[in-house]
Formats: sequence, structure tokens, C-alpha cells
Amino acid sequence: SIERTFSIVKPDAVAKNLIGQIYARFESAGLKIIASKMVHLSKEKAEGFYAEHKERPFFNDLVAFMTSGPVMVQVLEGENAIAANREIMGATNPAEAARGTLRADFANSIDENAVHGSDAPESAAREIAYFFAEDEICPRTR
Ligand code: CMP
Repeated sequence: SIERTFSIVKPDAVAKNLIGQIYARFESAGLKIIASKMVHLSKEKAEGFYAEHKERPFFNDLVAFMTSGPVMVQVLEGENAIAANREIMGATNPAEAARGTLRADFANSIDENAVHGSDAPESAAREIAYFFAEDEICPRTR
């Protein structure tokens, strides 16, 4: 079915001037960018986004990294968008990511791993609403 998923181009990939190449991968796979903006996350915004990881040992490093520079946040729409985007991204750890995936091609490490994507319908809905008002999302009519 047609789904929406939430995606981030992380600070490492923005710094490496990879926004366009990453967007091209989404579009080539048939995912439509129906909302997009550049933001520099505050500590509070990043902590709230990653609240589920608060007890994990990597939480402080994660928040420091995600606030280290601007990111692109976007909503992707398409057939099975959540799984499709996870396939395009590859495994969280670039050392384990399949060839030709964004993480294999562009990530530095498990911490600086180029992109984020929602892992389930519930998290997609929550993450989209965390960054976008309804009137910032532009479903395609053609
Ligand atoms: P992301 O999809 O943005 O969600 C949480 C992030 O934490 C993850 O991508 C990784 O970049 C980072 N991270 C660092 N260490 C780990 C780990 N051991 N397991 C999962 N995520 C990790």
C-alpha cells in the first residue's frame, strides 16, 4: 500500500555535499519527496526525537552528532515506503550495509551513518508529526 516515511539526511552527509545524490536515490526508487526542509537541531529537539534511545550508551554522542550541523528532514511517499527506504539506506552499521545502499556508499561509521529512516508505521507517523505541520506536506496530484 502507499505509505509515508520520515527521513533525515544527517550532518555528515550534508557536510559532504551529498543532499542531491541522496535525494536522487529516493526518486530513482520511486519514492516521492512530499515535504522537505533544512534545520539545525537544538539539543532539546534532538533529545526528543531520539527519546526511545535515552538509556542507550550512545545517546549523548548521538545527540551531539545530530546537533553538530544542519540536516535535511523529509517525508517520502510511495508503495511500501517504510521498507523501501530502509532497503535504500542499508544496515545501520555501514560495515554491515549491502553494496549500493546509502550507508555502504556514504556513511563513515555507525554513529555518522548519513541517513535516518522510520522503522515502522507508528514511528513514521510520530516522526513526521514531530517535524512537519499538516500544511507543510504536499501530496502529489500528478
Ligand atoms: P538512527 O536510525 O538515526 O537511530 C539511532 C542512531 O543511533 C542510529 O541511526 C545510529 O546512527 C546511532 N547508533 C550508534 N550506535 C548504535 C548502536 N549500537 N545501535 C543502534 N544505533 C546506534
